[in-house]
Amino acid sequence: MNQPFPDLVIDTARTRLTLGVSADGLLVQKGYGAIGGDPRAPREGDEQARQLDFYPTYGDGYLGEPALMVTHADGDTATRLTVSGVKTAAAADGDPNVALTEIELRDPLQPLTVTLCLRAYHDEDVLQIWTRIRNGADRAVTLHRYASAAPAWRADAYHLAQCCGAYANEANIVSERLTPGLKVLGSNLLTRAARMRAPMFLLGLDAAADGETGEVVIGGLQWPGSFQFGFDVDSTGNLRIVSGAHRVGGDYALAAGQTLETPLTLWLFSADGAGAATRALHRWARRYAVRQPELPRPVLLNNWEATGMQFDEARLEGLFEDAKGIGFDTFLLDDGWFGNKHQRDDARRGLGDWEVAGRKLPRGLGHLCEEAERRGFNFGIWLEPEMISPASELYEQHPDWALGAPGRAPVLGRWQMVLDLANPAVADFVWQVIDRTLRPHPVKYVKWDANSCVYQPGSRWLGAGRQGNLDFDYNTALLAVMRRMAREFPQIPGMLCAGGGGRADYAALANFTSFWLSDNTDPLRRVFIQWGFSYFFPPETQSAHVTRMGHRPLKFAVDVALAGALGFDLDISRVTPEDRAFFRQTIALYQRDLRPVTSGGEYYRLVSPYAGPRAATLSVTPARDRAVLFVYQTADAAAGAAAGAVVPLRGLDAAKTYTVSEVSLPDGLAPRLPAHGTRLTGAELLAGGLTVPLTRQCDSAVVLL
Ligand code: DGJ
Repeated sequence: MNQPFPDLVIDTARTRLTLGVSADGLLVQKGYGAIGGDPRAPREGDEQARQLDFYPTYGDGYLGEPALMVTHADGDTATRLTVSGVKTAAAADGDPNVALTEIELRDPLQPLTVTLCLRAYHDEDVLQIWTRIRNGADRAVTLHRYASAAPAWRADAYHLAQCCGAYANEANIVSERLTPGLKVLGSNLLTRAARMRAPMFLLGLDAAADGETGEVVIGGLQWPGSFQFGFDVDSTGNLRIVSGAHRVGGDYALAAGQTLETPLTLWLFSADGAGAATRALHRWARRYAVRQPELPRPVLLNNWEATGMQFDEARLEGLFEDAKGIGFDTFLLDDGWFGNKHQRDDARRGLGDWEVAGRKLPRGLGHLCEEAERRGFNFGIWLEPEMISPASELYEQHPDWALGAPGRAPVLGRWQMVLDLANPAVADFVWQVIDRTLRPHPVKYVKWDANSCVYQPGSRWLGAGRQGNLDFDYNTALLAVMRRMAREFPQIPGMLCAGGGGRADYAALANFTSFWLSDNTDPLRRVFIQWGFSYFFPPETQSAHVTRMGHRPLKFAVDVALAGALGFDLDISRVTPEDRAFFRQTIALYQRDLRPVTSGGEYYRLVSPYAGPRAATLSVTPARDRAVLFVYQTADAAAGAAAGAVVPLRGLDAAKTYTVSEVSLPDGLAPRLPAHGTRLTGAELLAGGLTVPLTRQCDSAVVLL
């Protein structure tokens, strides 16, 4: 690199990333912050530690966490990348909101090229950053690290909030102040990003990022597999976030001439707090990242909580009959409808044998579709196509298709194993399962589940030299099948699921209309789970079902589910006439008044359940002419806590007048809001909030403005 490059400025509406080229040709970061604000540029320390490198590499002077670490074909472990060219381009489809910059980096000694790609979404302030790593050698090289991006910031303090948990306890927001050293958030699960945590985070610069003020960064990875975010606070006080697909044991053998395209990282800088960052991310998701954002999410009746796998045609037809006239859009038949030699009557068998269980459903799926449609709703189906039970005909025929460690006792998750999607024959089988299930019948919905992660990541297909490629190759093949399903069956909306909320990521979600948040449907817990996911995913992508888990008041269960993509999962044959009437009224309310506001609305977290006994959120239409307020009492209010009864409001138009009406009222319950039925200006509402006099745990209110 002899020729100087001018600084490269990548602007969005409110943010600026500035990159430069150092005297010795390295790509450096000169700032990433608000236009007109502090550029938050990392600083160089005393030790020539190259803190400004934008995509730091191992072994040639850089001392911190590298983004790229390679053993070259001749054993050389050093990599140095200097800028050899810059290309900018408009979006392929001519979208003026999107601009792509590609920076070509080359190693002067080794035939390795890295193309750093940056896609800027102007209006939403989102940057996607990723790389293409090309091995130009005539032998394989090993990539020990292949992060997608590693930007750096400078602040006096860094407050990290992650979205983590466990099965049935997803999406807790856990915050901490970062101290010097390396903090790693990640997952090694291979088949899913989340279970322990979603591949998304929120970072506050200087102050904790929670409300509507302060400089914050939302970061994320569009990838359904293992990942790592390394938060490295160096001795100079900079924070670098090394982000990408990564798994322990994931050294990638990159063949001669092969290019590896790393998953897209997401970056959103906001000077106006987590609230504004969330709203910008939701806008971006709806415009670019989620499948069919405009499609009204159908109201589902799922049979999982009601029947588990214990059903037959008569039982299902009974449920159809009971569901008639309530207003459900789709009946979703869950796990247990397949397997003959190994009947899927419990979770121990049958995965892989995707023929309809003749004993349970002798007239097949076509008959169920007809029976559902005859009662006025569609029929949808559950699939778990990546999985295999050791007790299955598929395993009898293709034991080598299951991932595992030959010679060792298999380690199963929920009595099942994961298919080796790195093997193209297996990926093709998975596609055939989908095609054979969806194409011949008028199925109108699909739920794609994945109940095990990979405990023994061994692939017979990859052979001795490429075992480290598994996570990347598996998830690349998985996404290809998901994309194909979305492309070939655009009329079939879909829910992502992985043993609860294990697949919440923007790569998989591009092919689905919603995701399942958790098998914990106790609405009291769901308030927190929906709150946690709301930082990163719009409400209409969050499948929220009314169940009887936790035995909470039915109105509370309904009101919590109304905030997401509404569904029901309970034994409809046991519902009282009063509750049926309430469901009918609820679904109509949702379809007519709530869904048009929550889907596509601007989302405000008003009162945090982490801070006190109540949660409140608000969705406002982009035109700010309608809003929906949800208030949930998560614990009893302290005696005489009158002040706590006022919910502060945001996002309304001060100049507009709103009619306040409390809705979602079962027969016999009168509106509790003193302002119910009154007309108030946005200015009045913004100044005074709304008094919502709930005091008892599990009381709730839904208010239309
Ligand atoms: C786990 C899912 O989260 C549940 O909703 C249900 O589909 C079961 N799997 C079925 O096995």
